[in-house]
Amino acid sequence: MPTITEPQGHLTWEMRDHDTAEITNIVVNPSYRGEGIGRRLMDRFIDEMSKARVYYVYVFSELDNQGAHKFYERCGFTLWGSTPDFYKHNGAVIMGRLV
Ligand SMILES: CC(C)(COP(=O)(O)OP(=O)(O)OC[C@H]1O[C@@H](n2cnc3c(N)ncnc32)[C@H](O)[C@@H]1OP(=O)(O)O)[C@@H](O)C(=O)NCCC(=O)NCCS
Repeated sequence: MPTITEPQGHLTWEMRDHDTAEITNIVVNPSYRGEGIGRRLMDRFIDEMSKARVYYVYVFSELDNQGAHKFYERCGFTLWGSTPDFYKHNGAVIMGRLV
């Protein structure tokens, strides 16, 4: 799976169509959160998508993961929808943005 790494975090993604990519995971070491590492990973990802002529990026995230939703909002993502029972014990929101 394509991966972008920083010393204390990483972001993985997959192409879903010729112009669309899904972030499959982004995680920063808990001791280093709130220091801009997630933003750096996202900036590098968006830059790579732009160069690859990808137009849409999106991510599924657990319904109650408010921290992640705020993070994506701050990175320019908006709510595209939600789906119950996406995960075994939780629903999901889908958030996306144009590159
Ligand atoms: C979500 C995650 C990757 C953010 O990484 P981070 O390095 O802490 O984020 P940053 O420090 O780069 O923050 C970027 C912006 O998002 C905001 N933000 C980040 N986490 C936030 C939180 N929990 N609540 C509110 N805002 C948050 C920051 O305030 C910052 O806003 P700014 O534009 O005002 O500067 C990290 O919290 C994490 O690993 N969470 C656990 C894994 C997870 O839930 N991943 C998402 C799976 S879908």
